[in-house]
Amino acid sequence: MKNLIVGNWKMNLTIGQSLLLSERLKNNLKNPTSDIVVCPNYVSLAAVSIDLKDSIIKVGAQNINANDERAYTGEVSGPMLKGIAKYVIVGHSERRIHFGETNKTVALKVAAAVRNKLTPILCVGENLHQRNEGLAGRTVTDQLEENLSELTHKEISKIVIAYEPVWAIGTGENAEPFEVEKMIKTIRRFLINKYKAKIVVSIKLLYGGSVNSDNANAYLSIDNCNGLLVGGASLNYRQFTKICQL
Ligand code: PGA
Repeated sequence: MKNLIVGNWKMNLTIGQSLLLSERLKNNLKNPTSDIVVCPNYVSLAAVSIDLKDSIIKVGAQNINANDERAYTGEVSGPMLKGIAKYVIVGHSERRIHFGETNKTVALKVAAAVRNKLTPILCVGENLHQRNEGLAGRTVTDQLEENLSELTHKEISKIVIAYEPVWAIGTGENAEPFEVEKMIKTIRRFLINKYKAKIVVSIKLLYGGSVNSDNANAYLSIDNCNGLLVGGASLNYRQFTKICQL
């Protein structure tokens, strides 16, 4: 299966800066072996989507409301993203921590994405306390159990899962590849046990957390690791291009 490299630009870049970055990526990314996605902020999303219309780089959103239409000031829903984005990040730890998203909210958002034909990139991962208590695996499988609960078995094959240990996000403290390998195995085993192997075999499992052009290859070499979710390093077109062309 082809690897998937996702750049999460988070709450960075004006429209002009976003377009500069998408132009640079477009001009520098030549025949990447992986599928590439960039996720700009909502203000820049449509402009970047138009800019990348005929490019190999696909566009994703960073959030989605669980409802398709409602009097919810400031929110963006699935139908609004149709035609603009192909992917959407759901359940990122920054949203769970700073915006109070619960496992239930995340489950409804995953379902909203699938309902609107967007591929959810579901983020799961333990915090440092949970890791130190030996609860990393349990935390992640509990998240998966709840976050996938609104999907039918058939819909499960339509998702991407990113393992992002909270302590490794934006800290420069990336997880050791052997730790990632162990968790990727745990996630794959969970999926196979819960759903039919035939359904889950195509689900891509990514790693995210302080990935850069120096350490990316170590993760892509892990058995069953099908790509990366890159934050900080995706804002630098040279680094991101390098990661995409590994
Ligand atoms: P980081 O972010 O690469 O800056 O650690 C990853 C993420 O939040 O997806």
